[in-house]
Amino acid sequence: MKKFYITTSISYINGKPHIGHALEAVQTDVIARWHRLKGEDVFFLTGTDEHGSKIAKLAEDQKTTPQAIAETNSAAFAQLKTILNLSNDDFIRTSDQGRHWPGAQKLWRKLVEADAIYKGTYNGFYCVGCEAFITKKDLVDGKCPIHKTSPELIKEENYFFKLSNYADQIKAKIQNKELEILPVGRAKEIINMIDAGLHDVSFSRPKEKLSWGIPVPDDPEHTIYVWCDALSNYITGVGFDDDEKKFNKWWPADIHVVGKDILRFHSPLWPGMLLAANLPLPKQIFVHGFVSSNGHKMSKSLGNVIDPEEIVDKYGTDALRYYLLREIPTTDDGDFSWKRFEEIYNNELADNLGNLISRVIVMAGKYTDSKIPKPTADSYPHNIGIFKYINDEGIDKFRIDLAIKEIGILIKSLNQYVDEKKPWLLHKENKTEELNNVLYNLLESLRWLSILLYPFLPQTSNKIRYQLGLDDINEKSFNLEEEREWGGLKEGNDIGKPSILFPKIDTKA
Ligand code: MSP
Repeated sequence: MKKFYITTSISYINGKPHIGHALEAVQTDVIARWHRLKGEDVFFLTGTDEHGSKIAKLAEDQKTTPQAIAETNSAAFAQLKTILNLSNDDFIRTSDQGRHWPGAQKLWRKLVEADAIYKGTYNGFYCVGCEAFITKKDLVDGKCPIHKTSPELIKEENYFFKLSNYADQIKAKIQNKELEILPVGRAKEIINMIDAGLHDVSFSRPKEKLSWGIPVPDDPEHTIYVWCDALSNYITGVGFDDDEKKFNKWWPADIHVVGKDILRFHSPLWPGMLLAANLPLPKQIFVHGFVSSNGHKMSKSLGNVIDPEEIVDKYGTDALRYYLLREIPTTDDGDFSWKRFEEIYNNELADNLGNLISRVIVMAGKYTDSKIPKPTADSYPHNIGIFKYINDEGIDKFRIDLAIKEIGILIKSLNQYVDEKKPWLLHKENKTEELNNVLYNLLESLRWLSILLYPFLPQTSNKIRYQLGLDDINEKSFNLEEEREWGGLKEGNDIGKPSILFPKIDTKA
């Protein structure tokens, strides 16, 4: 059985999750579910990045402890599993002294053994927002261009990681796609960055300045730099320190899914660390864009941060999943607005998809006594012949948005098939054989649709299957090849009761 290890980045816990975090989690979930359907042995890891100056400062400002903040907010991120119906197999926390710390320290020791760590003095800027040491030339009007805040000027003794030593190797691995960065434009960015020259990276902070983190092995007066600590989650989460068998099974990761702002840490830094430690590199890094709110960057000060839970409470998990997957171009930036959300929900979920399911199930209930009718020998619906399995193309090429749009076209064509064949007339005219055939085609098409939709909208898929009288999809035992055969619905079986999948939103209210 082919193994497939996929990760999201791990989120900072200085606030609650917003729809940007939800986007990454849901995209990753789709890919994980799709690979399970294909029969692969999947491990999907997510978690929280809890150390560093950002949290230490927040705790100081709020007169509380970093631990207290970590407990509350990490739990809010873990809750996304339920809110978004994520299929992650595990959730790692960098504050976990049993699971994460020993592995992060083991990696540090490997870097020391490889002579890739040395002590020096750092004299320069640090942006707490980025949790990164930045140079003067990166600043715009003296401020961090991302966070628009003035960085701290620090001079202190640090350990450094010799990233510059690995530049050529990293570049070669990206170019020969041993480490594939997608979309390709992002790979070019990193190649350009490497060509411009890599600097060694400060890899620790003095404990007296930052104690909220993992102590440097054999030198507890220093704290491991938060990015060194955080990146190691990808290996500590699969047993790097204490479970060799597990680690060898899963590592290297097949895909790291990350946002565009943190690619520079996932490459060149992370591959540099792995090369130094003599560990295999991840196979792919997929980079998604940013979601804005009503055309503006989400920010607490603007008060436009969108809480995924609010959307889910109002309209359900799949409505949010659908919006994020369909409306935000998978490889690019996109926007959320309630207006657009309601538009897409009403047009595509309530009218197109919901309407198709309900009219087909209602007609089958009326005309076939809620049983799967008998198809004729040539029941394959060539006239609606856009049944091509788009998931391979769409998901494997990271164009989830395009895959969903294709499914939308399929749904439309099925609605057209109903309009053209007019089963109510066939019934009236007693054309039973043709009626049965049309209904069989439609019901069987809905079965296919339930499979196509599954990775994106698992709850909806199972609701459709219930109405067809089928069991829920069980990812572990599902046989995609078999289920793709036309003719899976068996004549005479009972179908379920119709139910409304997506009640229409009254936009005037
Ligand atoms: N803790 C680091 C990641 C460490 S991974 C070893 C971090 N955390 S974060 O909470 O700031 O971001 C987590 C993920 O959410 C990142 O991939 C980031 O790009 C993504 N997003 C944060 N805001 C976003 C949007 N507005 N839109 C889409 N994704 C965004 O970075």
